[in-house]
Amino acid sequence: MRTILILLIFFKLFFADYCGTDQVAIGMEVHISGVARLLCGKPNCFDKNYSECPERAESRKGCKKENEWIGGFDATIDGKLYTMCCEFENLKDFVKPKYKEVRIRRGEYFEGEEKQNDDGDVTSFDVIKDIQTYRDDSGNPYYNLTVYNFNCVPLAEQTPKWVLKTHWPYFKK
Ligand SMILES: *[C@@H]1O[C@H](CO)[C@@H](O)[C@H](O)[C@H]1NC(C)=O
Ligand SMILES: *[C@@H]1O[C@H](CO)[C@@H](O)[C@H](O)[C@H]1NC(C)=O
Repeated sequence: MRTILILLIFFKLFFADYCGTDQVAIGMEVHISGVARLLCGKPNCFDKNYSECPERAESRKGCKKENEWIGGFDATIDGKLYTMCCEFENLKDFVKPKYKEVRIRRGEYFEGEEKQNDDGDVTSFDVIKDIQTYRDDSGNPYYNLTVYNFNCVPLAEQTPKWVLKTHWPYFKK
């Protein structure tokens, strides 16, 4: 039983091109060869939350809208990037910008930080909001990540909007 648990925890983080609707992009690696991969994870405070993703990575301009973040990409070795922008409802209420630009070049790696309380519950985690690709002076592509910090506390305390509205005195005309 213990072994299974450890394996599950270990495999919660994995490299992929897509993190999809039920995982979040918490890191990125660019191999020496130029192959870029996302590090996906599912922080335990995010267990029951999902984002909505399009079927394909089709944005050429990154993920700019305030309620969207990176859910995946198609990156060619010569540095063309198509991003999949997933929408998380009210994302802006849960996040704060953390790093404006984290540059990842070949052979480099970024992994966001996760904070936990004494019970082992995740209270906040870093997530990749956007990725832009550029070229250095020698023509080698590199990636600049915009990183947000997602605060789980409002998620746990969130009351559905309809409850607030139907409770006196909020519902008054
Ligand atoms: C996240 O999931 C929890 C548990 O299902 C839910 O109560 C909450 O409304 C969700 N939050 C958002 C912002 O979707
Ligand atoms: C990418 O990020 C690096 C490091 O933060 C910064 O110095 C550089 O200007 C950025 N590149 C572009 C084209 O914005």
